[in-house]
Amino acid sequence: MKSFFSLVYLLLVLAFFSHITWAVKGNSLCKQTGMGEIRPHSVTITEFGAVGDGVTLNTKAFQNAIFYLNSFADKGGAKLFVPAGRWLTGSFDLISHLTLWLDKDAIILGSMNSDDWPVVDPLPSYGRGRELPGGRHRSLIYGRNLTDVIITGDNGTIDGQGSVWWNWFRSKTLNYTRPHLVELMNSTGVVISNLTFLNSPFWTIHPVYCSHVIVQDVTILAPLDSPNTDGIDPDSSDDVCIEDCYISTGDDLISIKSGWDEYGISFARPSRNIIIRRLTGHNRNGSGIAIGSEMSGGVSEVYAENIYFFNSSTGIILKTARGRGGYVRNIYISNVTLVGVDTAIFFNSNFSQHPDEFYDPNSLPVIERITFKDVIGDNIKVAGLLKGIEGDSFRHICLLNITLDVTTKSPWNCSNIQGYSSLVSPETCEPLKESIYPKHYSDCYLLPNHLRSSACHLAKETFPDIRS
Ligand SMILES: *[C@@H]1O[C@H](CO)[C@@H](O)[C@H](O)[C@H]1NC(C)=O
Ligand SMILES: *[C@@H]1O[C@H](CO)[C@@H](O)[C@H](O)[C@H]1NC(C)=O
Ligand SMILES: *[C@@H]1O[C@H](CO)[C@@H](O)[C@H](O)[C@H]1NC(C)=O
Ligand SMILES: *[C@@H]1O[C@H](CO)[C@@H](O)[C@H](O)[C@H]1NC(C)=O
Ligand SMILES: *[C@@H]1O[C@H](CO)[C@@H](O)[C@H](O)[C@H]1NC(C)=O
Ligand SMILES: *[C@@H]1O[C@H](CO)[C@@H](O)[C@H](O)[C@H]1NC(C)=O
Ligand SMILES: *[C@@H]1O[C@H](CO)[C@@H](O)[C@H](O)[C@H]1NC(C)=O
Ligand SMILES: *[C@@H]1O[C@H](CO)[C@@H](O)[C@H](O)[C@H]1NC(C)=O
Ligand SMILES: *[C@@H]1O[C@H](CO)[C@@H](O)[C@H](O)[C@H]1NC(C)=O
Ligand SMILES: *[C@@H]1O[C@H](CO)[C@@H](O)[C@H](O)[C@H]1NC(C)=O
Ligand SMILES: *[C@@H]1O[C@H](CO)[C@@H](O)[C@H](O)[C@H]1NC(C)=O
Repeated sequence: MKSFFSLVYLLLVLAFFSHITWAVKGNSLCKQTGMGEIRPHSVTITEFGAVGDGVTLNTKAFQNAIFYLNSFADKGGAKLFVPAGRWLTGSFDLISHLTLWLDKDAIILGSMNSDDWPVVDPLPSYGRGRELPGGRHRSLIYGRNLTDVIITGDNGTIDGQGSVWWNWFRSKTLNYTRPHLVELMNSTGVVISNLTFLNSPFWTIHPVYCSHVIVQDVTILAPLDSPNTDGIDPDSSDDVCIEDCYISTGDDLISIKSGWDEYGISFARPSRNIIIRRLTGHNRNGSGIAIGSEMSGGVSEVYAENIYFFNSSTGIILKTARGRGGYVRNIYISNVTLVGVDTAIFFNSNFSQHPDEFYDPNSLPVIERITFKDVIGDNIKVAGLLKGIEGDSFRHICLLNITLDVTTKSPWNCSNIQGYSSLVSPETCEPLKESIYPKHYSDCYLLPNHLRSSACHLAKETFPDIRS
């Protein structure tokens, strides 16, 4: 009888939740498929004249090594080994079928001269540089139109030496938007693992217009007061798996984006199928997981679990504004532990930076089916500050099993939102009071537990060892 019911339940669930197929497929998001097999060819950066003294500029050595390795792209690819040392360099380009491999004591250092970070075109989905009109400095490690790229090693270090950039930003002497530490653009089959990233000038790891991206076992650090040093920003990218990361920076630890206002709307490349799990970290001016504020190409099917944030300003934030358009839907965030966090859940709908005056203020974002489940919090100031947009209710926002130890008198503050809740303490705001069970279960974005646990179990077991 029991198994009959389980079967009926499963069939019903499969019939009603189209996202289940994705959740099952999600197993494979965190595995490499056929990539990163042992590279038959390998060179060391010193063979190309590099000097690891922290002073010699090695941009040419990196470029020459990679140019040479290009001839192996159709022969199984190649590995560029960076041994112990301090390897100062300007921006360089990766190629397909390449493994960049850093020894334990290898440190790649970003040049402190802005001329070593050439200026490239703005992203079409942003219409201009994010900080300033016009182009933007290219990231230290850059790749475009690539397949099968691996950046890994024995936990070596990539240090952007971003303090010069933060000072140019603060003194308003930048000529172009600051660079990322790593940017992969229009690429597929990207693995970034087992490394430490320090002091990015701007966002740290930026996959944009990419598919099949794995970021695993990385540590990302920047001072808590460094400006805009987001950890990982999947942007107009799909099938992204981020797991087992520790991030402590000056801004959002992870921020999922998809372009800015009219440029993002017309480029229309969403971010979707994003898995985040076992993320730990903190910051002082930012959130643990953010969606937006640039979300004009749409964000959907985001699945985050086993999250621990401490001593941070915000736990989970949705940032949007009039003029953004786009959508955020089918977001599922569960098993979150927050300790010493000012605002646990924040919907900020007035994130009013726009690329120019040509955005359409009547272009309103569609926000729906966002579920928070199994959240516990200690020493929280505000449980939820949930603001929709007047005339544009955010709907089917579901809160399930949330227990927050809140220090202020009005823990929830909601407007222009609609949804359901069950087992929430302190008691939630009026618009979310209706119970999830039994009537609204299917309005919420919920995954049955048995599928969720098997998904995670499988993925971890099958993740191959990528040392080669
Ligand atoms: C993306 O890369 C592919 C080759 O990998 C290329 O054919 C395509 O034109 C590129 N698109 C953009 C927008 O760069
Ligand atoms: C990537 O593809 C686009 C579109 O085909 C092309 O314009 C651009 O030059 C390519 N860039 C590189 C670095 O291959
Ligand atoms: C990651 O780096 C650590 C530290 O050097 C090393 O012990 C470990 O084997 C590496 N893991 C993988 C999967 O390469
Ligand atoms: C990598 O190095 C960072 C920074 O030193 C450290 O916190 C982290 O535990 C190391 N990771 C591994 C896998 O050794
Ligand atoms: C901005 O441009 C000025 C004039 O060309 C130059 O002196 C300055 O170094 C540039 N600043 C940066 C941060 O590149
Ligand atoms: C916090 O970050 C925002 C941008 O994300 C910035 O405008 C603000 O100045 C920062 N505040 C502090 C205290 O650094
Ligand atoms: C919840 O997440 C924590 C890490 O924050 C982890 O230790 C714990 O095992 C997770 N619980 C479940 C049921 O997965
Ligand atoms: C968090 O902040 C509290 C109070 O400022 C401090 O006592 C504690 O050590 C911090 N925790 C961590 C892990 O940094
Ligand atoms: C949104 O922010 C702008 C500028 O910061 C402010 O003028 C406006 O009153 C805000 N709108 C709402 C609805 O809070
Ligand atoms: C509620 O969440 C907590 C952890 O956040 C978990 O330990 C507990 O089992 C959950 N309760 C239910 C009824 O799911
Ligand atoms: C809710 O937040 C708004 C600011 O966003 C504030 O003006 C209002 O007083 C708050 N309401 C309560 C009950 O705290």
